[in-house]
This record gives sequence, C-alpha cells and structure tokens, in this order.
Amino acid sequence: MVELRENEQKTLLALKKLGGKALVDPIIEVSGLAHAAVMRAALTLSEKKLIKMHKQKQQVVELTAEGKQHALVGLPERRMINALMESSGTAPIKTVAQKAGLEEGFVPIALGWLHRKGWATVEGKQTLRAQKSEIPVEADEKVLLTLKDRGALTLDELENDLQDAVAVLKGRKLLEVTDKTVRKLELTEAGLQLVKKGVDIVSEVSQLTPELIMSGKWRETKLRKFDVAAAGPESYPAKVHPLQQVIQKAREVFLELGFTEIRGPLVETAFWNFDALFQPQDHPAREMMDTFYLANPKAGSLPKKTVVNAVAKTHENGWTTGSKGWGYRWSPEEAKRLVMRTHTTAETIKYLSRHKNPPIKVFSVDRVYRNEQVTYKNTAEFFQIEGIVVDKGVTLCDLIGTLKTFYARFGLKKVRFWPCYFPYTEPSAEATVYVPKMKRWIELCGMGMFRPEVLTPMGIKYPVLAWGGGLERLAMLELGIEDIRQLYGNNLGWIRRTPVCQ
Ligand code: PHE
Repeated sequence: MVELRENEQKTLLALKKLGGKALVDPIIEVSGLAHAAVMRAALTLSEKKLIKMHKQKQQVVELTAEGKQHALVGLPERRMINALMESSGTAPIKTVAQKAGLEEGFVPIALGWLHRKGWATVEGKQTLRAQKSEIPVEADEKVLLTLKDRGALTLDELENDLQDAVAVLKGRKLLEVTDKTVRKLELTEAGLQLVKKGVDIVSEVSQLTPELIMSGKWRETKLRKFDVAAAGPESYPAKVHPLQQVIQKAREVFLELGFTEIRGPLVETAFWNFDALFQPQDHPAREMMDTFYLANPKAGSLPKKTVVNAVAKTHENGWTTGSKGWGYRWSPEEAKRLVMRTHTTAETIKYLSRHKNPPIKVFSVDRVYRNEQVTYKNTAEFFQIEGIVVDKGVTLCDLIGTLKTFYARFGLKKVRFWPCYFPYTEPSAEATVYVPKMKRWIELCGMGMFRPEVLTPMGIKYPVLAWGGGLERLAMLELGIEDIRQLYGNNLGWIRRTPVCQ
C-alpha cells in the first residue's frame, strides 16, 4: 500500500483533474495549496515514481485581466451575436448591446469583430444583421475556455490552429505570451492507477502541541518529518543599492585617509564651474554640446568684487600671476550663467576661495551633469569623486601616493600615471588602471596641481593637489559589470543578486 500525505494526495488529484499533465500554477489553483507545498509534494511523488517532473524553457500563455473577464462571460462579439439571435437576427445595435449586457466601451470592439469574423454586418448606421444562422465555437474561444479552466498553458500544448488563435488574442491584449522556465508535472502509469484506486491518506501533524503531549495522543500521532536539506523559499531583504554601496565605500576610504567631506549645489554659476578654473569663456567644453545651461532662471550672482576682478584680469592679461592670460575681454554676463555643474571641481575651488590656510584635505562624492549620449559607458548624469590636499611643500609625488592608496582600497593595484592636460592644473596627469579581464587600461581620474592662474585670484599661497574622476567606472569594476546603464536600470534581478557586502 502506498501511503501519501494530504498535500501529496491533493496534488495527485489536482493533476488528474487537469488531464494528467499540468504546469505548477494551475495545480496550485486547483489544489488550493501553496507553491512551496506543491513543490514539496511533487518531489516526494516523483521519488515514489507516481509523477514525472519536467523542467523546460517554454512559452507560457496566460490570460490578461481583460482576457479573464472575457473568458468568464464570452467575447464581446459572441455576447452580441447571442443577443442578436435572440432578437431573430436583426435589431438596432443599441438594443442588442443592452440585451447582451455589454459595457459601452466594448460595443465598437464587438462590432469590429462581428464584421471581421463575418458573423454580422451593420446595415444603415444603427441596425445589426446576422450573417449566419448558427456559429460554432471558434478557435479563439476554445483557447479562452481552455485557459479559463487551466489558468496557464504552454504554447506547444495547443494544436496548430489554436496557436494561430493565440496570436490573434495576443494582438487583442487578452493574453500574454512569456518565456519562462516552467515545471510541468505528469502522472505516470503507476500514479494514474493509484488515483483511480483511491489513495490512503495518513494524517500527520507538523507541530507537537501541549494538548498532544498532555492527552498522550502523541503516541498514535504520525509526526511529519522535516527535510532539513530542502531549499527554503528565497527571500529578498531590503538593502542599500549597489551603486550607493560603492559611494559609501568611497566616502569611508576618504574619511579613513583623513579627508573631510564638502558638498555644493547641483546648479552653479559658470564662474565657479569654469571661470575660476581658468577656463576661457570660449572654451569648447562650455559649449552646448557638453554643458546643460539653465533656461530659467538663466543667471546667478557672482562672489565679491575683488575675487571677480582678479579672475577677470587673470583671464584678460594674466594679472599678477606671471601668466599672459588668454587675451580676450572677459564678460561678467557669461560668468553669471547658471549651469548644471559639469564637475565637482567647481565645489573645490569655491571651498578654496573661503579656506586658504593649510593643511586642507577635503573631498566630495557627488553628482555632475554632461550633455552626453547615453551609451554603455556614458550617462548624462553621474557621480564624481574629487579631492584636494593643500599643504606646505606638497608635490605631485604626494598626489600619486595618495591616489595609489585610495584606489588600492578598491583592489586596483596596477595604476599608472600619464601626462595630460587640464586648463587649471600644471603639471597635469591622468591615472589609469589595468583591468586583466578586459585586457585594457581604463581611465580612472584626472589630476594635477592647480596653476597660479587659479590659486592667485583666490589668495592661496600654498601648493594644491587636486584630482577628480568618475565613480561609476569604479563601481563597474567593483561590481563586475560592463554597461553603466545597469547601475541606473533598477533591474530587480540584478539588484537582488548583488551581495549586500562586497
Ligand atoms: N575636473 C576634471 C574632470 O572633470 C578632473 C580633475 C580634477 C582634473 C582636478 C584635475 C584636477 O575630468
């Protein structure tokens, strides 16, 4: 005699009711059991060779909410034609619709399909006339009915002519076809025999209660065994977004290196974003191509006159910096324009205009904006990591050392420095890292020592080491992803799979 538990029996019976072969979802519906219970029962049943479990990639057909409604009461055109037949084949549309109990929104849909299916035509404007005296159930209706009974089907379970109907119903948004890995259960011959004969159920308890113990009934009770090796349901506790985790880590590393965080507004004047950094007003980076200029309000205010004048003179003729400047007429109007900051160096220089005494070690990890095409490696808004060190006698070597330490904390050891150019630093360099997986050198950040043309107008008398780079690059290396859009896509699957701690 085969002994089965209640859930196993319910699963077997549901399977029989569903024709001996069915997907898990309909079994859940028919048996009233939870997903985990059906899966557990299925495991035991297949061990006992009463069912077979198939796991396959398949196209699963399911009703949409509207499809479910039609499956229950009939397609709008069917309801209309039924009502029309009852009115002896011709009647005003309105009357038929009323008789059919059709909601107003469905009337035009019903008329369209009555015409397409050749069931009825509209005469004049208001009269409906049946074209046939009897209309057997058509393929699309068969599909709806089968789905009504079974909840979900795989496409290959349907005969060819019904598959065409699926396409039509999909077009009508009454059902959805999705690719899924599905589990299908199938009664074996032995399983079938058993359900026919009837199964003995052993009732089991899964919890030993004080009553069972006190009454002594526990002696006769069969206790359910726990399968401690069975996988529990997956759970997805709340956690910090992976990108935010990398941001936090960058902050922590800076703090551990003795830096203090500074923050500034997302909208800045061109003065702080460009002019104070000795970028000429006709510099290509300022053009619409790169910078988002604000339409409203268009302009902000400039800092104190002495600072503005010093910057203006430096641009025009070099002022007292020892430089010749850019040799053009500096416009305060251009400097007042408001921009979405294109780099956090805007905050750095603003900070320096107010803090002139060393030692200074500040950083920011914050959002910046550039009008760039969104691709696998660029987005129009992103995070920048930025830092400065101000102290007597610091040199580029100190900066290289600081950066090596910073990036090593992210596991990036093979970092190299190449000469490059920024309008506000001299010498300037670029840090790159070798990524073995990609067999490529990847750009990490720009760096350098602020030029006298930047420092003198702000009244800074000490060397300033500065660097700034993309945070997403770092996040991509840290998280092992190759498309930056992944960081912003809110793909739940990826977010769930990414560990809480790196
Ligand atoms: N601001 C530069 C950028 O956005 C980076 C940089 C910062 C370079 C500081 C030198 C010094 O790319």
